[in-house]
Amino acid sequence: MGSTKDWDKEHKPWSEIKDFLLSNYLSIFFQKVMSVREHKILYFDGFAGPGIYNDGTEGSPIIAIKKAGRAFMKAKNKKSVSFIFAETAKARANTLSDTVSNNSFIKNLSFKYVVYDKGFQAAIREVLANKDKYGTYFFYIDPFGISCLDFQMFKNISQLNGLRNCGVEVLLNFSTVGFLREACCVLSKEFIVPKEDITLVDEGFDTQASLEERHARLTQIFGNEDWVDIVRKAKNGEFWRAELELVDNFCHRLKQDDAFKFTTHIPIVDTSKNIKRGGLIKYRLVHMSNHWQGCIAMNNTMIKALNMERQPSLFPVDGNGAYINPADIDAAFRRVLHENVRIRQKCAMGELAAMVISEMGITEKQNSLCKTYIGKLLDEGCLERVEKYTKTGKPSHSFGEKVEVIKCKDTM
Ligand SMILES: C[S@@+](CC[C@H](N)C(=O)[O-])C[C@H]1O[C@@H](n2cnc3c(N)ncnc32)[C@H](O)[C@@H]1O
Repeated sequence: MGSTKDWDKEHKPWSEIKDFLLSNYLSIFFQKVMSVREHKILYFDGFAGPGIYNDGTEGSPIIAIKKAGRAFMKAKNKKSVSFIFAETAKARANTLSDTVSNNSFIKNLSFKYVVYDKGFQAAIREVLANKDKYGTYFFYIDPFGISCLDFQMFKNISQLNGLRNCGVEVLLNFSTVGFLREACCVLSKEFIVPKEDITLVDEGFDTQASLEERHARLTQIFGNEDWVDIVRKAKNGEFWRAELELVDNFCHRLKQDDAFKFTTHIPIVDTSKNIKRGGLIKYRLVHMSNHWQGCIAMNNTMIKALNMERQPSLFPVDGNGAYINPADIDAAFRRVLHENVRIRQKCAMGELAAMVISEMGITEKQNSLCKTYIGKLLDEGCLERVEKYTKTGKPSHSFGEKVEVIKCKDTM
């Protein structure tokens, strides 16, 4: 088991992808929330770390402050951002306080921050107890393991959304691999854990606890007992398939339980291991949002982070590198329209795409997804453009996310 003790000494290559994704997404996020929302913004980092690594690289708190600061400088209607950084390790919390207090955006802009040392769970409880305080929330949850997670907590966070029609987004680093390994242990299925070097950090599970207690803990993290069936039916060689099924199930239930309408995820991979399979999955980044624009922006950012644009495939592949049949994406668009949009109802192309992405996973950027599949539905007369002409009187060909369409006939 890998140690977390000296973790601040080096910035692991797979962390760079995570930071790239966070940094690119937050550029879009802060720009958006500063321009359209008339309320206060809370950025919450539940496992903040020291803010700066020993090798000088910046950690998630500084990435976020800089992105918020740059968006603030550019915005017409400047809105302050409050930051909560939870970090329990004393030395890291001290370094973080120093690093943040010396940051020029913090010094010069009206940003407020608190370094909270009582732990992530207590910090979350405090935010939940003051539901009216903010209008927009972004939660970055990046623990070492998963032992402190709890499905119900995500549902509670999503309830913040009920007030004043505000927005809540979560970006979770979910150690599905750690979860599955513990689940295999608890269900005596260790033989399916591959011999590959799955060096995980200490997940924080109490291996001295009884099997019943460990079972109950996994159920609390996962939100129900579905994990038991997923693991029980996995045969030798199916560890990675089970890992994907676990995360898909977790995301699906967040939607089913009306917690978050849109969810996406990508694997974060150590490319130095298991090269033939394209690397060894370390964990998943799961994005939860109630706004289709958040889902689209994350989809496009994930595609950029996975380098999918620069390595185009002849066939559509998802974020796991698995082949996706275009007929399945086509069917998903038809199903989404059938189930969610009434005849003569208007809908933004981006919203339709977000529903499909949430169902199918990430495959293509929104624009090309809409061009291929919504283009076909327009040709078939199932959809019509609301604005058929551009301002200069030319026929509109745009497939931008805000372009509206009307449903003219059913698609199933
Ligand atoms: C993976 S690191 C976070 C890295 C950070 N997000 C970054 O990108 O720079 C996890 C951090 O969470 C801290 N931690 C562990 N348990 C915690 C808890 N219950 N509440 C808050 N912080 C905790 C650890 O000390 C560690 O610094």
